[in-house]
Amino acid sequence: MNVRFPALLVAVLILPCCRNEVEETAKESDPATVERDRLMAMGKEVIQELATTLGSLLNKAIAEGGPVEAVKVCQLKAGPMTKSFNGGREGVNVSRTSLKYRNPQNAPDELDRKVLESWQHELEAGNSLPPLSIELRDEDTAIVYKPIMLQAVCLNCHGAEEQLLPELKTVLDELYPQDKARGFKVGDLRGAFRVEMTR
Ligand code: HEC
Repeated sequence: MNVRFPALLVAVLILPCCRNEVEETAKESDPATVERDRLMAMGKEVIQELATTLGSLLNKAIAEGGPVEAVKVCQLKAGPMTKSFNGGREGVNVSRTSLKYRNPQNAPDELDRKVLESWQHELEAGNSLPPLSIELRDEDTAIVYKPIMLQAVCLNCHGAEEQLLPELKTVLDELYPQDKARGFKVGDLRGAFRVEMTR
């Protein structure tokens, strides 16, 4: 995110002088575009709140009890916290998903898989990912996705086998016998935040 921010800023600063005013006005007044922008903005806000909450939960748990204790915190708190996290917004459901998931409850559905696979292809082709993407599942449901990239701290629990503490592996094996969420490297696509919004 830190890397993308300056590029975004540059785009915001440069774009106004280059854009086609007429086309822009037409686009802005199109109700579908207005609605899409509204949903994207709401999705972004919810994801930011959740990402901050989960990030501090993780850092605190690691600082206080080390990675092995933190696994239990992730297991007990991250899921329920995510599920109930809609910031008080009606018709909004937040979750995390991944092609290589740890908790089977986070397995992707067909649409999730399509988005994640297309991002994976983009990364493999050397392209960067969009900060957010929106999909319409049906007339009443829109889903905003945000890529989750793997950072150094995540290697404690999602890195290669040899990067995991033996004690931690034991806990993970017990809690998640079907764990697919190991073997990641920094910069890999770990998964996505997903905000489902129903009218
Ligand atoms: C202390 C160990 C630990 C660390 C460090 C950790 N995770 Fe996890 N992660 C877990 C556990 C445990 C789960 C399963 C939670 C559950 O049962 O809902 C999980 C689940 C996830 C999921 C949900 C999808 C799935 O696989 O079930 C994502 C996405 C995720 N982690 C991303 C990250 C990212 C990104 C980082 C680094 C910023 C990170 N994790 C750091 C332990 C960890």
